[in-house]
Formats: sequence, structure tokens, C-alpha cells
Amino acid sequence: MKFINEVDIKHKRVLMRVDFNVPLDQDQNITDDNRIRAALPTINYALDENARLIVASHMGRPKGKRVDKLSMAPVARRLGRLLRKDLHEVKLAPDCVGSDVRKMVEDLKPGEVLVLENLRFHPGETLNDDDFAKELASLCDVYVNDAFAVAHRENASVEAITEHAKVCVAGFTMKKELEYFRRAMVDPARPLAAVIGGAKAMTKLPALENLLEHADKIIIGGAMANTFLMSVGYDVGRSMYEEDLVPVANVLLRNAKREGVKMYIPVDCVVADRFDPKAETKLVTAQDVPPEWMIMDIGPATSLLYREALSDCKTIIWNGPMGAFEMDAFSRGTMNMVTSVAQSYALTIIGGGDTDVAITKMGEQDNISYISTGGGAFLAMLSGEELPAVAALGGATGLEGPAAADDSPASEG
Ligand code: 3PG
Repeated sequence: MKFINEVDIKHKRVLMRVDFNVPLDQDQNITDDNRIRAALPTINYALDENARLIVASHMGRPKGKRVDKLSMAPVARRLGRLLRKDLHEVKLAPDCVGSDVRKMVEDLKPGEVLVLENLRFHPGETLNDDDFAKELASLCDVYVNDAFAVAHRENASVEAITEHAKVCVAGFTMKKELEYFRRAMVDPARPLAAVIGGAKAMTKLPALENLLEHADKIIIGGAMANTFLMSVGYDVGRSMYEEDLVPVANVLLRNAKREGVKMYIPVDCVVADRFDPKAETKLVTAQDVPPEWMIMDIGPATSLLYREALSDCKTIIWNGPMGAFEMDAFSRGTMNMVTSVAQSYALTIIGGGDTDVAITKMGEQDNISYISTGGGAFLAMLSGEELPAVAALGGATGLEGPAAADDSPASEG
């Protein structure tokens, strides 16, 4: 896999795939521009090299049709502000392919930026359609993929385009994401702890299974912990849990024990009489959840236990909140985890939108070693999946290599 600084892009037409799928409020204001800021080093590099820059991204899931609310217009405006418009003009194309766009690309001067309209306004994008990819590729001399957050998708601008573009390289965001992942999972400073939370165990199962081969400690939180509590025979009242996964959770706990991986599940919880910020709440041990109540957060004893468990770790990976943290009454467990991770002396890597929101809410971004731009892509990587974007550029995430196998507790045994 080659990177943007290893090829000649001077005055060239560079099509850069980024992930500017940022959250917008109902008035089309960007509520978090982290993903745009994360791409700035690669964009600035291209502009310093006087490339003619074409920026391409998706926004939301418009299902192959034009949806005005999902236009790239707010993103193009924000990029213009971040880049200082007086130095680099940022234009917005009316579409991402077609004769008008082609003309705009032809007119692009070195150091100028053209943001293409939402790639997913065309069905060919998510279908990984070859003709659509070919048309996109024909806009450029060099294709750069800096869109780690969409690296797990077999989309035309991610995968099929690499069959047609003359030169294909990765950007600096992609490089950084893969490097941090490698440091955390392939060649970690140990002990390595993975903190996995969130609502559904189903979406995290492949990651948990893979982590069993790499981590020394696995800490479970969020509503998915309820399935684990059920699997050890505790009643979780009216809490959400995944019945069909109860035996799977039990097998995971037993496998962890066999592999010498320490797995932690909540010992106490905050319960509520309904799913409501104004609900009646109380603290109970994990054994004492009342039948009509539901678990909304981990309790203080669990926070303390998890903090202790993390205290000797040299690498910590965290994905998913500890409870329904969007409601203040149930945010304490997640906020305690933010503090524990931020104050640790470990290499800390965070992934996933909710976890990122929690870190930002507490103002702890600067105390985390690396905040990934990926949600689904981060999870796919934790699951040991090959990322289509990385494979298409001729790279590997690293977990497939012999170093990973040799390092895993399983192979040591
Ligand atoms: C994300 O937000 O995780 C990426 O932009 C991918 O979006 P998708 O899940 O709609 O493919």
C-alpha cells in the first residue's frame, strides 16, 4: 500500500475519497466536524503540492436518489472555512459525475478544491458498480483514499474505483488509523484491555470473539452486559437483553477463562422504573434487579472495579458507552469510564460515535492517545475482518500476519 507522499501529485487532478458523513441538526448545521478536521492534513498536503483537488464523500443513506437534506453543501462551506477561503477556493459541484462536473474539473486550477455532491445520490455507489466507478476514476490522475470510516464498505468510490484509477494511494488519516490499530492489537504493550459497551451484544460479538485472541482483559458495559448477566443466571427484570445470545455469552465467558483472558461484567447497576430521564431510579447489586425495573447504567462499584482493572494496563481500546448516557441520570458510568481511560498511563484508542461524544462532552479529547474516525469500520477492524478499502489498495490491517498469531494468548498456550 502506497501513501499520498510517495507519488507525484504536483498540478495533478487528485480525487480524494474522504468520509465527511458528519452529523447535522434539523437546520443543516454540522454538530461535530471531527471527520472534516481529521482529513485536513491530507488535504493540506495535496494543496501544498499544488494539486487540483476533487473531494468526494457520501452523507447519510439517500438510497441512490437525490435528497436535498443530504447535500454536501454544509460540508463544502465548513471545509472552505477551515482551509481559509482566501487561500483556496472551495467549489461545490451539482453532482459527482456527468458533463457539468467534468467541465468543473477541467476548469480547476492548481490549489483549488472542488467538493463533489453526495456519492450515494447514485445507486452505483453502494452497489460497487463498475461503470459508476469508471466514471469517477476518469475525473482524476491520482486517487487517494483517506476515508477510513467507510473502509469496511464495498462501495464504488472505495473499492471498484481502484480497478480504474491510474494511481491509487492512501491518505494520512488512513495511515494513522492503521498504525494505531497495529500498535493496539498486533504488537501491543501489555496488559491490553478492551472495553466494549453499547446496546446490542449481537453487533459486538465478532469483535469480542476476536478480542479473546488478543486482549488480556475484556470489560463489558452498556445494555449488552445484560445478556452476559443473564448468562450467569442473574435476572435483569425488564431490561433489554438478547435471549438467543444468552448461551453464546456464556460460552464467551467460559472461553475467556480457558484462554486466560480476564472478563469483567457489572457487579452493580443503576435501575429505573421506565426508560425516561425523569424515571424513578435506584442502585442495586447485579443480583438484585427488581422484576419490574430496567438496568440503565453500570453502578459505582462497577465503575471502581473497572478503574482498578484498567490501572495496570498499558494499552486500552474502548468502543461503546456503559449505559444510556444521553440521559444525565444514566451517564455516570460512561463518564467515570471516560475519566478512568483519560487518566490512565496507557496508550488509549477510542472508536465509535457514542464513545467519541462522551469523551468530547467531558472535554477529555486531548487526554486520549487516538480517537478513531470510524464507527462500523473500527468495529470491523476489531473483529479481525479484512477491510475492502485497505485490500483494494494492496494493504492489510495486520491481524492476518504471523506476528499477531505469535502474540496471542491462545497461541502462547
Ligand atoms: C459511518 O458513519 O460509520 C460511515 O460514514 C459509514 O456509513 P454507513 O454505515 O452508512 O455505510
